[in-house]
Amino acid sequence: MSAADAVTDSLENLRARFIGVRDGKPADYIPQLALADPDAFGLALVSMDGHRYSAGEADIPFTLQSVSKPFIYALALSVLGLDEVSRWVGAEPSGEAFNAISLEPDTGRPANAMVNAGAIVTTALIPDTPEEPAFDRILRCLGRFAGRELDVDEEVFSSESVTGDRNRALAYLIRSTGTMPVDPVLAVDRYFRQCAIRVTTIDLATMAATLAYGGVNPVTGEQVVSAEVAAQVLAVMATCGMYDGSGDWLLRVGLPAKSGVSGGLIAVGPARFGVATYSPPLDATGGSVRGHAALETMSQRYGLHLM
Ligand code: DON
Repeated sequence: MSAADAVTDSLENLRARFIGVRDGKPADYIPQLALADPDAFGLALVSMDGHRYSAGEADIPFTLQSVSKPFIYALALSVLGLDEVSRWVGAEPSGEAFNAISLEPDTGRPANAMVNAGAIVTTALIPDTPEEPAFDRILRCLGRFAGRELDVDEEVFSSESVTGDRNRALAYLIRSTGTMPVDPVLAVDRYFRQCAIRVTTIDLATMAATLAYGGVNPVTGEQVVSAEVAAQVLAVMATCGMYDGSGDWLLRVGLPAKSGVSGGLIAVGPARFGVATYSPPLDATGGSVRGHAALETMSQRYGLHLM
């Protein structure tokens, strides 16, 4: 068997092993997400030579949700630099749920850019310019990570806009501590829109592989962000990407990762690969049950733990 066939085979095997898991259920606090097929299960891996491997439903579209957060953080770091971004958002694990208040008592900053409070701020930090509104720039940047033009699922966007009072409340609280760079209504609208950007599992693995490859998309060859920014993003993903499950994830899987409530999950093997899974049923931390199990098994079987 060729090395390429072996990778595909191993993704197929992981799918076969965990497709029968019936734990968890799709998110329903954003009503449109509850319509997802709980049996869809896609896996994809992109290597540093730009090969894309996949198994299962790896090309059906779903929305990024929180998997957008590391990429927006990357854009904010690219535009403003670490010192300026760090004036507004911290880099410490909150040990709390993704939608917790998580504002530092001394500075008032959100704890990190992976929890909702921090992500609302990093989104708000992207400036509108005369040439390009901020959201267009976000969409274009995420498209460069994925290697193709992306679009927004307007139904998921509206669904979250209607029900998203908690995020709206977070945005106002953040303004009250003096760490909200723009109007809270605008920030949250842009954040909901970014969460509703549509991708496939293969796109996600390509985005993860771009972080793995020092900011260069290994499929298109384009330098999307600097190697320095990619490393900064991976550091925060490693410590904060899985919220209050981050320590346990790093202990067991040992790779920087990010989950999202639509069921997407990415993990990064620096200088080696980007991997992604899609399966909507979620655990208590808002992460994909099958995705978590598949990546933990993959890490153990192939010795991918970085520590
Ligand atoms: O802000 C929210 O609640 C959603 N748009 C995204 C949350 C999310 O994906 C949490 N991650 N697992």
